[in-house]
Amino acid sequence: MLFFISKATFSTQILRALSRPMSKSQDAGTNYDGHSNVSGEKLVYPAASRNKEPILQVLKRFLINDGDETNEKPLLVEIASGSGQHLFHFAPCFPEITFQPTEYDESLLGSITYYAENCPTKNILKPLHVDISNKLSKYGFKENSIDYIYNANMIHISPYECTIGLFENAGIYLKPDALMITYGPYGKDGIITPESNIEFNASLKARDPRWGIRDINDLVQLGEQNNLSLMDTVEMPANNKTLIWKKN
Ligand SMILES: C[S@@+](CC[C@H](N)C(=O)[O-])C[C@H]1O[C@@H](n2cnc3c(N)ncnc32)[C@H](O)[C@@H]1O
Repeated sequence: MLFFISKATFSTQILRALSRPMSKSQDAGTNYDGHSNVSGEKLVYPAASRNKEPILQVLKRFLINDGDETNEKPLLVEIASGSGQHLFHFAPCFPEITFQPTEYDESLLGSITYYAENCPTKNILKPLHVDISNKLSKYGFKENSIDYIYNANMIHISPYECTIGLFENAGIYLKPDALMITYGPYGKDGIITPESNIEFNASLKARDPRWGIRDINDLVQLGEQNNLSLMDTVEMPANNKTLIWKKN
């Protein structure tokens, strides 16, 4: 995808990017454009570097690092893994959970693989090339088989069909009572706050009119259509939220 920096364009884009100040809302995704860093196969998104620790603290409240009665390791599937940094940061804290990264943009699979192979606890699988607007059965998943779905910063940086696909897939492929965790900026009751998120939303729409910050009320409705209830909303740094969804 064009908004991800490629190795070839890195030097010119980074010079331009480094001369721009970062606003708070960039943690919600704008700095995925032009602020990446490349080292070998490994991509480093500054936003992911900043938000990975606050997100981990939330995950520690909701993920159970333990097998179930069948002694199978719980499976967490990440949709839209991006650079792969998030799972690399999370996985060592949950050695009993198996982490499955996935990504739509094939050019990112190398970076995700790099992080997976270098995870000290070896509980990150090879990434799968997944378009979330398809049914997850296309990629070998069985209904009612996933313990956690995790998705950061995709809902506002993709067409709404991807959000619909995310919720439909969570409704079908999560186990009963299992959780989906989504992170990013959200509006509420038709209002986006603060001003920096309003500006961010306008910049997303200018880039692609199908993108934009979604309203939690619409997501709750989408959840209801797919057997998912909003269980918790956690306020996060830089005007983001983590939403915890439970399959009924
Ligand atoms: C801003 S990046 C977020 C990356 C990572 N989750 C993070 O927070 O650092 C948005 C991601 O959504 C992915 N994406 C876009 N369309 C998608 C689709 N149809 N299915 C799955 N992922 C998609 C992009 O490839 C990209 O990796």
